[in-house]
Amino acid sequence: MGLNTRIEAAIADAVAIGQGAGRATPPRLASALHYATAPGGARIRPTILMSVAMACGDDRPEVSDAAASALELIHCASLVHDDLPCFDDADVRRGKASVHRAYSEPLAVLTGDSLIVLAFEILARQSSLAPDRVAQLIMTLAQRTGMPGGICAGQGWESEGEVDLKAYHQAKTGALFIAATQMGAIAAGQEAEPWFELGDRIGEAFQVADDLRDALYDADTLGKPAGQDDLHGRPNAVTELGVQGAISRLKDILGGAIASIPSCRGEAQLAEMVRMYAERLTPVVANTTVPGE
Ligand code: IPE
Ligand code: IPE
Ligand code: MG
Ligand code: MG
Repeated sequence: MGLNTRIEAAIADAVAIGQGAGRATPPRLASALHYATAPGGARIRPTILMSVAMACGDDRPEVSDAAASALELIHCASLVHDDLPCFDDADVRRGKASVHRAYSEPLAVLTGDSLIVLAFEILARQSSLAPDRVAQLIMTLAQRTGMPGGICAGQGWESEGEVDLKAYHQAKTGALFIAATQMGAIAAGQEAEPWFELGDRIGEAFQVADDLRDALYDADTLGKPAGQDDLHGRPNAVTELGVQGAISRLKDILGGAIASIPSCRGEAQLAEMVRMYAERLTPVVANTTVPGE
């Protein structure tokens, strides 16, 4: 089975559990769980998680599957909540109507809530198989989702007047990339700590690239509203560093990412994956010229 197929299957199984697998559940909320998670976006976080797990031997594939789907559920939940009128008020996500536009605001709140809780249930379901790994996975995912260092903290910075751009980005976006590399290692029975830097670097690069795309591209290209950072007066790498500054920052971060890969069985393959990902992020901006720069 290819990696993408494996990830899609794990996510679909997880969502089916959330929908009740035959039990009587509110049909619109059950439908919204599917709508919010499929078809997905790039699935970059579970792809990184699985790649690290495989580089570390992937000796408990069920646990890796659970970790990958749990992480993607948290990500999808964060997008559903992020699009709500009280956050970014976005009508479009992944090229289709955002969940609150397609269903309703109450159902979007509940969809996000349900996906967050489901993520932890999916991990807990593996506890008889690998109790120590599951406990660490739950801890890691919780820390990267909530306060003080997870997505909640990241979104919380947007309600502050003074923002520490690095702390904001690390919590809002970096957190789930750190979770991706660390959970991949944990799922395969390895230490999490050595995998921090790789996740941190990929996450920061991703956020800088996202800021550049937000500033430079239109909504059709993005499949979601563009120019949002400016519109909401949000601190971002482009206003802080300028377009060229942000591009050099991106290259610096990615250069260090490959060097940071801990030694493991599949180190060479993993380095290749990061190299390909870096290429995908970089030309997007390198070929773009901005009037006045
Ligand atoms: C978008 O993440 C949200 C940010 C953290 C900036 P992705 O670009 O990974 O979204 P999808 O999952 O591919 O749609
Ligand atoms: C959303 O961040 C991602 C979360 C961490 C919730 P943004 O608001 O910057 O991303 P987009 O542009 O909506 O995807
Ligand atoms: Mg937002
Ligand atoms: Mg948004």
